[in-house]
Amino acid sequence: MSIKSNLTANRLLQFKGEINNENQLISEALRRILPPAGAGILLDVGAGLGDIAARAFADREALLIDILDFPDAECSLHTRQTIDFFDLPRPERPIDVMLMSHVVQYLDDDIGRLVDHVQSMSAEAIVLVSNKPTKLHLKIVEWFARRGVVHNAEQFFARCPLSSYRLADRVGLTSRIQCADIEELARQLSSMIYDVELEPADLRAFSDWLAGQVNDASVDLPQTISLLRREAPDA
Ligand SMILES: C[S@@+](CC[C@H](N)C(=O)[O-])C[C@H]1O[C@@H](n2cnc3c(N)ncnc32)[C@H](O)[C@@H]1O
Repeated sequence: MSIKSNLTANRLLQFKGEINNENQLISEALRRILPPAGAGILLDVGAGLGDIAARAFADREALLIDILDFPDAECSLHTRQTIDFFDLPRPERPIDVMLMSHVVQYLDDDIGRLVDHVQSMSAEAIVLVSNKPTKLHLKIVEWFARRGVVHNAEQFFARCPLSSYRLADRVGLTSRIQCADIEELARQLSSMIYDVELEPADLRAFSDWLAGQVNDASVDLPQTISLLRREAPDA
């Protein structure tokens, strides 16, 4: 079991705690979009710190899984399991909602395998949280391509990519990445948003280029939360 990334629990803690205010906004939006609890559980795939779970659905039974080791869940209704999503069998309890917040980019090397495993969970609803492409994002991707840098940015699915689900609702939010200086912004953006470890020379070059693209050491990050509902088999 190994993570497809240089991500660590500490890096995530710094990014979500000090650099990017998204988890507060995601939690607020989830409270608006989550379907009411049914007889089953909420499965949070790649739950990370568990802070979204604690803020958005402390009042419902949830299984928080992650490939990295995080401290136990702080809510009595939440259970933690350290496991690769692909090794997770379908839980005994039915799944009312499967939440996938900023995790698909770590699971999508083989899209067919990902789609099969997601569908095997038979969740009543799936909630996907993902970044929306911006002009700056497209320019960064072009810059990486010119330098031959292979990145692992999240993909934005405008339509529902799962055949047995339909898009039922969508809400937007914009978080802000705020750093002390442009060098730190370049480091945080490349490692946390593009999931790439730049060599020192590339990081310096990226930082110099980025300085010409932004007004200060901050970037807005528009995001989308999509609610997908499972179709009846004969629908
Ligand atoms: C960018 S973080 C997002 C965390 C949380 N969902 C949030 O939005 O704050 C991605 C998370 O996915 C987890 N992850 C990556 N690959 C995984 C896998 N194969 N199975 C389970 N979790 C995985 C990482 O360890 C990390 O905690």
